[in-house]
Amino acid sequence: MACLLWTVSVSFLVLASMVMSTAPKQAVDVPFSRNYQPTWAYDHIKYYNDGKEIQLLLDKYTGTGFQSKGNYLFGHFSMDIKMVPNDSAGTVTAFYLSSQNNEHDEIDFEFLGNRSGQPYILQTNVFTGGKGDREQRIFLWFDPTKAYHKYSVLWNMYQIVFFVDNVPIRVFKNCKDLKVKFPFEQPMKIYSSLWNADDWATRGGLEKTDWSKAPFVAAYKSFHINGCEASVNDKYCETQGKRWWDQKEYQDLDADQYKRLKWVRKKWTIYNYCNDRSRYPTMPAECKRDRDI
Ligand SMILES: *[C@@H]1O[C@H](CO)[C@@H](O)[C@H](O)[C@H]1NC(C)=O
Ligand SMILES: *[C@@H]1O[C@H](CO)[C@@H](O)[C@H](O)[C@H]1NC(C)=O
Repeated sequence: MACLLWTVSVSFLVLASMVMSTAPKQAVDVPFSRNYQPTWAYDHIKYYNDGKEIQLLLDKYTGTGFQSKGNYLFGHFSMDIKMVPNDSAGTVTAFYLSSQNNEHDEIDFEFLGNRSGQPYILQTNVFTGGKGDREQRIFLWFDPTKAYHKYSVLWNMYQIVFFVDNVPIRVFKNCKDLKVKFPFEQPMKIYSSLWNADDWATRGGLEKTDWSKAPFVAAYKSFHINGCEASVNDKYCETQGKRWWDQKEYQDLDADQYKRLKWVRKKWTIYNYCNDRSRYPTMPAECKRDRDI
């Protein structure tokens, strides 16, 4: 905690990177199997570097995926991913948090592949109490297939922030005052998967997966988790008082982070449900906060 308070006094830029490295005070290169396990098609996951690095394979028979062993209520979660290179059209690589019940909560990153040389789309979504339909889509300012980049979620009582490296690309504020549900009591597991979605992913399903290019490979490392672990029926996390993620500096973005978010809005955003009047003649309530960005 001393370290966290200290960061307040340093520059915003340093602060932004400190925020994201708060958790990595623990070892950054945690082996995959410490906190995660395969979900299906175990033979389509390959392990490297003492299990600190893995690859997911997609071929015409199956994709694959993995999930956290634990359930978490609030915290900071990230992984470094190198997306499927070259012709990845039709493939989707996802990294998301989800609770496992009917009126579920979910926080989604979905990376939609493309033909060689064409840009990936990063689609994000937030489900609260079973309600989603809150898509935002951006292009990335780098080629996500050339190197590892860090994708992370900060989730606390005040906001859900999506980060790409240290850039906040989306904020979902707690708008309970506007009668919008916010995830605060259902623990979530962390998931990732690589699968074929050529019925919708690339240009609305126009581009099909080219199976002659299979297997498609996405690589992962730095499986970082710093959250409150809870069993699904346990109220532990709610009653333990404030955790680091609820401290003042995480309740809102700082000025520099807002500047970066605006930059993403202006230069990289290609779709925002908040601005889609044909789909939502009446602006969804939480979008009032979104508009202020
Ligand atoms: C991707 O394309 C590059 C050249 O464009 C090639 O060197 C590389 O082997 C290809 N990778 C895969 C996985 O096919
Ligand atoms: C793929 O590239 C095309 C052409 O540049 C672009 O219109 C499209 O948005 C890109 N992404 C996806 C997922 O279709």
